[in-house]
Amino acid sequence: MQVSKVGVVGSGVMGHGIAMSLARSGFTVVMYDIKDEFLAKGMEAISSGRFGLKGMVERGKMTGDEMNSILSRISTTTEMGALSGCNLIIEAAPEDRKIKGEIFSKLDGICPESTLFASNTSGIMISDLASFTKRGDRFVGMHWFNPPQVMKLVEIVRGPETSGETLETIVSISTRMGKTPITVNDGPGFFTTRFINSWLMEAYRLLEYGVAGIREIDEMSRLAFGFPMGPFELSDLIGLDTMLHVAEYMFEETKEPAYAPPTVLKKLVLSGYLGKKAGSKGGWYDFYGIEVKK
Ligand SMILES: NC(=O)c1ccc[n+]([C@@H]2O[C@H](COP(=O)([O-])OP(=O)(O)OC[C@H]3O[C@@H](n4cnc5c(N)ncnc54)[C@H](O)[C@@H]3O)[C@@H](O)[C@H]2O)c1
Repeated sequence: MQVSKVGVVGSGVMGHGIAMSLARSGFTVVMYDIKDEFLAKGMEAISSGRFGLKGMVERGKMTGDEMNSILSRISTTTEMGALSGCNLIIEAAPEDRKIKGEIFSKLDGICPESTLFASNTSGIMISDLASFTKRGDRFVGMHWFNPPQVMKLVEIVRGPETSGETLETIVSISTRMGKTPITVNDGPGFFTTRFINSWLMEAYRLLEYGVAGIREIDEMSRLAFGFPMGPFELSDLIGLDTMLHVAEYMFEETKEPAYAPPTVLKKLVLSGYLGKKAGSKGGWYDFYGIEVKK
């Protein structure tokens, strides 16, 4: 199926990076969020953020003209109706089944039957989200990684009804963007989130039990296992509210204690320490007053 115009729902940590990646590969993008100020922050991150276009121009990775033509392919809106002309919608709203369900149910009434729906959910089952629509065959998981502009993997999640044509289209779009798509079957957390979540929760528990401190756990993870970042650094990048939502969902679905979010994580989220995202007080290092080693 031909896709030229893509709607991105949510302009936060993931949404703006997904929009930028699509526009860089020549797609026309309409980015939707509930408030203009969120869209403005997303656009600011696309232009001037750490992985933004201006930095690429400064580093000689693209010309100013290329940057301007990428930016001209992205429009923003707070009107969901503006997504009606898109061939594909990629949803990157908060990790909350109710919010995502409402979005997909509204979009199902707005978009033509042919429009493909993809969710960037970290772990909510695709069969569950697809049930809010009448297009299970044109519904798929498209799980990007943070930062979307940089990370190569796209975990593509096949729901029980996802058609071969839908999968092929998403694989081909991912490849066109220079990503490596890998297809998995549906289940809570798919492969990547299920795998990483038990590791992150265990690190929080070991902190809670007093076995080792935040910096020590991060440093040991890098030195012992060659991970590019430790569990607390990674959590601050992902967003602790997202971590908590994912863990609660995973535990509810599997009832396996390994996925249960420890109290210490809830404490941080309830106190507004959500990680590096906009408007947060900071993350693990800030809550415990630990200086980040340069
Ligand atoms: N952060 C990560 O590292 C990461 C990685 C992979 C997948 N994900 C998944 O991507 C999704 C988005 O996560 P994020 O980290 O970008 O979250 P975020 O909180 O940074 O951004 C969410 C955005 O959605 C907007 N929003 C809220 N309600 C909305 C609605 N009803 N309609 C449209 N937009 C709405 C918010 O204003 C915000 O801009 C989640 O499902 C998350 O699990 C996150």
